[in-house]
Amino acid sequence: MNIAQVDYDGLIPNNVALGQDVRVKRALEKWHPGYINWWNDMGPEGFQKSLVYLRTAVSVDPKGWAKFDYVRMPEYRWGVLLAPQQEGRKIPFGTHKGEDAWQEVPGEYRAMLRRLVVIQGDTEPASVEQQRHLGKTAPSLYDMRNLFQVNVEEGRHLWAMVYLLQKYFGTDGREEAEALLQRRSGDPDTPRMLGAFNEKTPDWLSFFMFTFFTDRDGKMQLEALAQSGFDPLSRTCRFMLTEEAHHMFVGETGVTRVIQRTCEAMKEAGISDPYDIEKVRKLGVIDLPAIQKKANLHFSLTLDLFGNEISTNAANAFHAGLKGRYREHRLDDDHQLESNTYPVLRLIDGKVQNEDSPALSALNMRLRDDYVADCNNGVARWNKVIEQIGIPFQIKLPHVAFHRHIGEFSRTNADVDGNILSPAEWTHRRTDYLPSAADKDFIESLMQPQFEPAKFASWIAPPKVGIDNKPGDFEYVKIA
Ligand SMILES: [Fe+2]
Ligand SMILES: [Fe+2]
Repeated sequence: MNIAQVDYDGLIPNNVALGQDVRVKRALEKWHPGYINWWNDMGPEGFQKSLVYLRTAVSVDPKGWAKFDYVRMPEYRWGVLLAPQQEGRKIPFGTHKGEDAWQEVPGEYRAMLRRLVVIQGDTEPASVEQQRHLGKTAPSLYDMRNLFQVNVEEGRHLWAMVYLLQKYFGTDGREEAEALLQRRSGDPDTPRMLGAFNEKTPDWLSFFMFTFFTDRDGKMQLEALAQSGFDPLSRTCRFMLTEEAHHMFVGETGVTRVIQRTCEAMKEAGISDPYDIEKVRKLGVIDLPAIQKKANLHFSLTLDLFGNEISTNAANAFHAGLKGRYREHRLDDDHQLESNTYPVLRLIDGKVQNEDSPALSALNMRLRDDYVADCNNGVARWNKVIEQIGIPFQIKLPHVAFHRHIGEFSRTNADVDGNILSPAEWTHRRTDYLPSAADKDFIESLMQPQFEPAKFASWIAPPKVGIDNKPGDFEYVKIA
């Protein structure tokens, strides 16, 4: 069988020769009805019968891997897709560096590896749950389709992790696969494992910010896991990254189009002061300061996903060869880091400052730094749009100490520039930085559905080009 092609004959599309792997095939077929139940209960509300113009992976060849067609989401062909095996691949880092990559789980690292797979797996259904109400307020059919594309692919990412659990982790794997369908985003008794995945996604600006910031954390985690010495995990994550690129696109262009519409409306109305919020809001667009506050919120919540700056778990996973650094293969050092140091931002004597720490313990910090740099590239592209239209405003990422709940800065209150505030100052100034109740109410008031082809809600510009090169009036979702 050609690994690049996907076998669509059975219940579960795959390129892992599932037909010859009776035990795993049965386990996945047994898991399947529970997954469909979960999708029907927790997937996009109100649109399960609609025909959505979605891409489905038909190959894992980066050139031309997907085909587009109208699909009812519960009938989407979720499958198991791994990037092709690279012959002779070696473990690229850690204490086993240079040894053959593992095709089976190394016994000594079994628990650690399972935990990495479960944590990644838990985020995938969580975001579907968080976004399940958004279809009803979609600003266009184009955006609705993009939302549903992201949703079905997060569903597929869950399949990707469940395949690893079922194939490589025996009974515990089976139990973990079940538990992934039991937890619920935001549920006080059975929440998802990570904080940002228990927050609400109440409106479309939140959705775009989430796909920009939080899916980008997903990208960083997948990049780090794609380096893994456990080859099936590496191959799984490499293909997930192909899909993840679209999620980044949805977030970045989504926010760009919101910014563009605001700036254009201001220009047309002759408003040059971005802080003349009342006037700007009367135009039916979202003021730039409110967009900044949303960015502050989603950026800070997402930073928490990187965990503690100093972490023995991260050190152990790297040392063991299970989770590498962002683009490990492009880094020029010994890839073992036993004697290297890395500067870590810490709170020392009430001041935020760098302190050199053992590089192995600082891997979360390092991945977070790479993440912040990646975010800044996207923010610079937003600012270009503002500049081109000629509004004097710049979106700026807040300081990493701002509004944190995990790690070094969780016990202090910092402003967006990293100055430490007293609890009273923080309470007083909180809504200068984060969306206030009034901001939320205003944004919510704009969330009126626009379901006519070629039309867009007042607060967002149309995209430059359609999905799959479709014309502007294409009916991306046939609502039923
Ligand atoms: Fe994902
Ligand atoms: Fe994603």
